Amino acid sequence: MNEQQHSIIPLVEPWLPPACAEAVRRQVETTFVGPGAAAQNFGARLAEACEVHAAVPVSSGTVALSIAAQVLGLKPGDEVIVPAYGVISVINAFAVIGLQPRLAEIDAATGCIDPKRLKEAITPNTRAVVYVDFCGSIGQDLDEVAAICAKQKVPLIEDAAWALGRGRPGRRGGSFGSIGTISFSVPKILTTGQGGAVLAHDEAQRDAAIAAADQGDVNWRRTNLNNAVGSNLRLSDLAAALGSAELDQLEERWQRKRRAYSVLADHLGERLFRAADGDAAMQHIIFVERPDDVVGQLKSQGILAARPYRPQYHHPPYQALRDRDFAASEFWFAHSVYLPFGVALTEEGAARIGSAVQRLNCRFVSPASG
Ligand SMILES: Cc1ncc(COP(=O)(O)O)c(C=O)c1O
Repeated sequence: MNEQQHSIIPLVEPWLPPACAEAVRRQVETTFVGPGAAAQNFGARLAEACEVHAAVPVSSGTVALSIAAQVLGLKPGDEVIVPAYGVISVINAFAVIGLQPRLAEIDAATGCIDPKRLKEAITPNTRAVVYVDFCGSIGQDLDEVAAICAKQKVPLIEDAAWALGRGRPGRRGGSFGSIGTISFSVPKILTTGQGGAVLAHDEAQRDAAIAAADQGDVNWRRTNLNNAVGSNLRLSDLAAALGSAELDQLEERWQRKRRAYSVLADHLGERLFRAADGDAAMQHIIFVERPDDVVGQLKSQGILAARPYRPQYHHPPYQALRDRDFAASEFWFAHSVYLPFGVALTEEGAARIGSAVQRLNCRFVSPASG
């Protein structure tokens, strides 16, 4: 009997098999724990997995987004479009460096920016569009958004926080836009505890990202002269060693994810949110009439579900951004429940969650009718 049949199932638990601890131990023994060769090697391997020119490891996915905007040359006051619903990092990353966020409505069925609603959000002042691969999805809507951005000559930042290595050959998550980013925070398919990467399409982008993460100048360690202002936003070799060990297991990690998702889907059918690309959704989401009741009922059975996100304009610093109707974002806020979804979730754990949800005395609602 698996331990997840009786114990508490947390919302997120990372999967860290012994090879992870072994890799960190070996790195410690080298005494190279700061940013160095292991981080560089991790970046090179990430670039391969994402099929991009280069990947620059940094200290978080939020920082990766800020750097991506800087690499594209965005300056304080420039307008950047972000999805109206989702994690606060995606808007804070830009506001914190002085950019002016503007919201684009999501498609209630995908959780991603709705290509049809993107057109109304773009203004003559728009300097970048940020598309989040929601739940890891690399769907057709991403191609549509990329085409709209290309036509309007607006750079696209693809936030592939959840989509490392996902997609089709030659078109992996984070490679669709003008620049891409990844996060390695705890819930992601690969975690370094905290961390992220900027996915660059050419040498100039790579150098600009390295400079932005390392005191503003790509050469200062050689020249001992800094030509620009910057900060230290690098990833340590210790974290990179863990990341590299997990990259060795990337396919296995996705298989685990797909197996748990598939067991849950067997129980919940159409009630379980499906990613737009048809692959397993990284987060396990259902929509119900009374989400707080469902979270409470599941908690009483040791299943820790949550309601993590809001429309960005609910947060006081962003209230003024509510300048249109955002019915889909409101629907997601009003009805979504995120069931446990970490990579450590076993098939037995997923079955227990699925059965518990089936037994709930609750009304489900559909984003399609929202
Ligand atoms: C879609 C998305 N983008 C960016 C981030 C930010 O990543 P981090 O937590 O590594 O800063 C997250 C984090 O959850 C995320 O979900």
